Amino acid sequence: MAAPLTLLFLLVLAYGTNAADPDMLQDICVADTKSAPKVNGFICKEASKVNATDFFFDGLAKPGATNNTMGSLVTTANVEKIPGLNTLGVSMARIDYAPGGLNPPHTHPRATEIVFVLEGELEVGFITTANALFSKTIKKGEIFVFPRGLVHFQQNNGKVPAAVIAAFNSQLPGTQSIAVTLFTASPPVPDNVLTKAFQIGTKEVDKIKEKLAPKK
Ligand SMILES: *[C@@H]1O[C@H](CO)[C@@H](O)[C@H](O)[C@H]1NC(C)=O
Ligand SMILES: *[C@@H]1O[C@H](CO)[C@@H](O)[C@H](O)[C@H]1NC(C)=O
Repeated sequence: MAAPLTLLFLLVLAYGTNAADPDMLQDICVADTKSAPKVNGFICKEASKVNATDFFFDGLAKPGATNNTMGSLVTTANVEKIPGLNTLGVSMARIDYAPGGLNPPHTHPRATEIVFVLEGELEVGFITTANALFSKTIKKGEIFVFPRGLVHFQQNNGKVPAAVIAAFNSQLPGTQSIAVTLFTASPPVPDNVLTKAFQIGTKEVDKIKEKLAPKK
């Protein structure tokens, strides 16, 4: 009896670790973002204090300002903006791109992303762990998928602005932008890690750091 039970337990465990965000155990668990105790997600707000506003967000209605170095802006609609998303395992974002704008190579450690083009045309792609690039040009009304954890990007090579709506299977997908992560971490990643990894000199490292540093 013990062996089959152990097997069953291992199967359940394996299944659990394959899932994205954990399943909910109640109808709603609106995030109490001010709660001091932390769990895997947020503590639920007192039920009597929950109302429709907790499930509402109008922040994706308008284009974001793209007048920055990369010429793109990601506006998130995750559990930090919509407390009602806590434990529900989904979220969205809007990304706007100026002509020539780039959403630079990055990963979402906790979610697969699917984008729907609202306006314009984009060159998009992701790179697998076998180092193969899967890329395509997508235009208004079309969809592209970026598998969970893989490095991906979108670029607007057109002459007019572009925008997408992105959906994620996590309430908080997390983002690590490759260049920014490596060159602007605090405390900094040691220069000799960066010079060796990228096969460049200290001067080049400093130049990249200076250009990517958050604008004051
Ligand atoms: C919901 O509750 C908040 C306070 O927690 C309040 O500011 C807001 O007006 C309420 N909204 C509705 C639709 O009742
Ligand atoms: C971007 O444009 C907005 C409004 O047009 C302006 O308020 C803001 O200062 C600009 N930002 C930069 C970095 O130029």
